Amino acid sequence: MAKASLIILVSLAICISSSLNLVYGEASDRNKFTVIGRVYCDTCRVEFETSLSEPIPGAVVKLECKNRTDEKTTFQSPEITTDNIGDYKIEVTGDYEDSDCDVTLVKSPRADCNDPTEAWRKARVVLTALDGVTGPIRFANNLGFKKKEALPGCKKVLTDMGYFELKNELGNEFV
Ligand SMILES: *[C@@H]1O[C@H](CO)[C@@H](O)[C@H](O)[C@H]1NC(C)=O
Repeated sequence: MAKASLIILVSLAICISSSLNLVYGEASDRNKFTVIGRVYCDTCRVEFETSLSEPIPGAVVKLECKNRTDEKTTFQSPEITTDNIGDYKIEVTGDYEDSDCDVTLVKSPRADCNDPTEAWRKARVVLTALDGVTGPIRFANNLGFKKKEALPGCKKVLTDMGYFELKNELGNEFV
C-alpha cells in the first residue's frame, strides 16, 4: 500500500514538473530573439553589396520597434557595436507582432566611410513567433555606410556585374 502510493506520488510529481517545463520552456523560447546582421562599407557608392564591399568592425547600430498603429516605441535596444568581422548581435525579449522593428545605423568608426546610405541604412526584422517564421535567430539585411570616394576597382567590378548596362536601360533613378 505504502509502496503503491509512493509510486503514484512520484509519477504525479514527474508529470507536473514536465508539464510546467513544457509551458514555461516554450513560452520563454518564443519570447527571445537574436537579431544578427552585418555592417558594410559601400566602397563603390552604389547602395548594394559588391565583391569590394568591406565589413566595418566597430560600427554602431541599434534596434527599435514601434507600434504600427500609434507609432509609440515598444522596444529599444542599447547601442550595439559590430565585432571584428563587422557582425552584430542584438538580443530581444518579447513578441512584437504589432510593431515595425528596424535595425538602424548609428555611427561609423571610419572617417572615410561614414555616410549612411539611403537604401542600406535600415533593415526591417520580424520579431514575432506568430507569423510562421520559426526559431529565435532572425537575420537582418546588411547595412552600409557609403565611402567618400569609390575605390578604383569599382568600375571593373560593376561592369562585370552588368551594372552600367542596367543603368542605361532603366535610367539613373532606378539604379
Ligand atoms: C498599439 O497602439 C494601439 C492604439 O493606440 C493600442 O490599442 C495597442 O494596444 C498598442 N499595442 C501595443 C503592443 O502596444
